[in-house]
Amino acid sequence: MNAPFQARAGLREPFTAFVCDEETADMLRPVAVEHGWSPEKVNMGGLRNAVQSLSVSASPNVLFVDLSESADPLNDINALAEVCEPGTIVIAAGQVNDVRLYRDLVASGIHDYLLKPFTVDQVRDTFANAQAILSGPRGEQQAEKPNVMSAVIGTRGGCGASTIASSLAWMLGEKAERSTALLDLDVHFGTGALSLDLEPGRGLTDAIENPSRIDGLFIERAMVRANERLSVLSAEAPINAPLQTDGTAFFQLQEEMKNAFEATVVDLPRHMMIQYPHMVHDAHVAIVCSELTLAATRDTIRVLAWLKSNAPQTKVITVANRVPAGGALEISKKDFEQSIERNIDIVFPFDAKTAAQAAKLGKPLAEIATGKLGAPFANLSNMVLSHASEEGADTVGKSGGGKGAKNLVDNLKNMLSKPKAEAA
Ligand SMILES: Nc1ncnc2c1ncn2[C@@H]1O[C@H](COP(=O)(O)OP(=O)(O)O)[C@@H](O)[C@H]1O
Ligand SMILES: [Mg+2]
Repeated sequence: MNAPFQARAGLREPFTAFVCDEETADMLRPVAVEHGWSPEKVNMGGLRNAVQSLSVSASPNVLFVDLSESADPLNDINALAEVCEPGTIVIAAGQVNDVRLYRDLVASGIHDYLLKPFTVDQVRDTFANAQAILSGPRGEQQAEKPNVMSAVIGTRGGCGASTIASSLAWMLGEKAERSTALLDLDVHFGTGALSLDLEPGRGLTDAIENPSRIDGLFIERAMVRANERLSVLSAEAPINAPLQTDGTAFFQLQEEMKNAFEATVVDLPRHMMIQYPHMVHDAHVAIVCSELTLAATRDTIRVLAWLKSNAPQTKVITVANRVPAGGALEISKKDFEQSIERNIDIVFPFDAKTAAQAAKLGKPLAEIATGKLGAPFANLSNMVLSHASEEGADTVGKSGGGKGAKNLVDNLKNMLSKPKAEAA
């Protein structure tokens, strides 16, 4: 980005604001205090005063500037850039609701633009984000080890795919010590951030709206950090509009994550896999997650066949999750394996108590799982890493090709004489 504001910040005032009205000042002061900044640094006078003041004094780390009285905000921001030292994070506010202005401001190095009237929570978010950037490592993140890319595909909703995805990402970060990105492509209803007790932020939504903005710096800012080695990109996109993207944004994100992280886990809902097949092309490993039910058997067959024809180079790990102990199974493991014509690689037992506890604590299931539920997570993470480092053929079911899938489903139907199997 051609950002005059974004080099490393030195020792200077942490924060200064130039606002145009008392109302904005009143909103800013308490939030400044929350960050340990002096409320007295909230000055009146807007952009004009900011330019005047900064031309004779050092620039702060975070600068809030009100553009409300500016007739030509873009031009004025460029004037500000001339007097503002590199390293300052500039947050602008104004009344002009124009996406072109927003884009131009961002392109000229503005960190964020708050549209008036805004709420105190918006101010809080923006400041927190600015502070996170200041305290985090600056410059584009660079992975040291080559990226290991995996995609977790749930064959049916609720089978625990997102649980597996966030846990795998956590394992790769915490246990395998790889800097890891979790990309949650359940754009409307994603739980990637929620399950880690994080706010999803606007990163993913911004990326979809503006794929051209996606670069290393964008990744660094947009991703939400869960811990030192795990960052998340997830969204709660508004549900009053369908997703408007040809998938360029997802592809770009995947590319940038490849450079910035040592592992990527994509939580890929099955409908997104169909819509954006390229998301699996580059994955070293696809983790096909299902439950031991008839419907999941059918869909596992179909997903394996899809992978075989759409991403033959991607290695497949089959996972059965939420598998109850005892005989309360819709389909036995053996019959499931026979139907999909390959073995289940990893079985996760059903453990409602630990799952509920993980949800309550806002931690990935793998972090609190022990014993019978802990071991399969370690297996999964090891398997992903070893598959990614191997060369060679795919491991999709040997006869799981596009045409074969129909036969497999037919076999399943024949095998299960129960009427509900006809649903397949
Ligand atoms: N092994 C397990 N035992 C019990 N509950 C589980 C297990 N794995 C996941 N769950 C729970 O199943 C529910 C659905 O999980 P989720 O990961 O959101 O599924 P999906 O992404 O496939 O729709 C969640 O409430 C989760 O806590
Ligand atoms: Mg999910």
